Amino acid sequence: MADLTGKVALITGAARGQGAAEAKLFVERGAKVVITDVLETEGKELAESLGENARFVRHDVTDSESWDAAVAVAVDTFGKLDVLVNNAAIYTMKPIAETTPEELERILTVNLVGAFRGIKAVLPAMTANGGSIVNISSQSGLEGLMNHSAYGSSKWGLRGLSKVAALELGLSQIRVNSVYPGPIATPMVPYLTTGPGSFPTLPLERTGLPEEVAELVAFLASDASAYITGAEVSVDGGLAAGKFIPRGM
Ligand SMILES: NC(=O)c1ccc[n+]([C@@H]2O[C@H](COP(=O)([O-])OP(=O)(O)OC[C@H]3O[C@@H](n4cnc5c(N)ncnc54)[C@H](O)[C@@H]3O)[C@@H](O)[C@H]2O)c1
Repeated sequence: MADLTGKVALITGAARGQGAAEAKLFVERGAKVVITDVLETEGKELAESLGENARFVRHDVTDSESWDAAVAVAVDTFGKLDVLVNNAAIYTMKPIAETTPEELERILTVNLVGAFRGIKAVLPAMTANGGSIVNISSQSGLEGLMNHSAYGSSKWGLRGLSKVAALELGLSQIRVNSVYPGPIATPMVPYLTTGPGSFPTLPLERTGLPEEVAELVAFLASDASAYITGAEVSVDGGLAAGKFIPRGM
C-alpha cells in the first residue's frame, strides 16, 4: 500500500473518472491534492468532499497561464509540489477518413501538448527537492488500435515524451513514468460495463475500475517507487500481453 504522507500532488482532469479516484486515494494515503479540471461543478464538489487536504482549481491544460496558476495554488496553499499526474484527456474513435486535421490537432493540443505544458510548469517547483511525474497514456499508445488515429497518436506521443522527460529530469531527481490503462469504466467510455465477464476478450475477462488505476498511480507517486523512472506500466487486465484467445473460440 503506497504511503503518500506529506506529499503534495496536482492531478489534472480530476473532477471525475480515474483522476477523481486518484485524488480520493491520494488523500486517503496522506497526500494533499490540487484537483484541476475544466468541469467546475464536479471538481468543487469532489474537493469539498475531501476536506482540508484538497483544493479545486479550474484549469485548462491547453493554457500555460492556467498551468502557472494551478501550480501556484499547490505551492501557496500546501507549501510545495511533489507529484504531477498528467491525467486530463479527450477521446474520439473514428476512422482516418472521417477524422479532420483540426480534430487531430485538438486532441494533440489537449492530450500531448497539455502534458508537455504541465511538465514545464512544475519544473521550477520540483527542481529543488525532486518529484514524480506520472503521465497517463493508454493501450492505444503501445500498439496500433483501429479507429484511434487521433487519440492513439496523442498517446504514442505522450509515451515518447515520458521517456525523454525521464532522461532529462533524472538529474534533478524528478522521476517520470507512464501508465497504460486498458478499458476502464469511466464517463470517457460510458458504454463499458463492469463486473466478471464484462470484457471477455481480455485475459481477466473484465473492464478495469478507476480505483485499480489509482493504486498504480499512487505507487508511482510514492517513495516506494524511488528507483523507477522512464518505466511504462500497463494496468489493463492482460491486454498488452499479446494475442489472447477468448473462451469458446
Ligand atoms: N477510460 C478508459 O478506458 C481509458 C483507457 C486508457 C487511457 N485512458 C486515459 O485515462 C485518463 C483518464 O481518463 P478517464 O477514463 O478518467 O476519462 P474522463 O473523461 O472521465 O476524465 C478525463 C477528464 O479530463 C478532463 N479534461 C478534458 N479536457 C481538459 C482540459 N483541456 N483541461 C483540463 N481537463 C480536461 C475532463 O473534463 C475529464 O474530467 C485519460 O488520460 C485517458 O485518456 C482512459
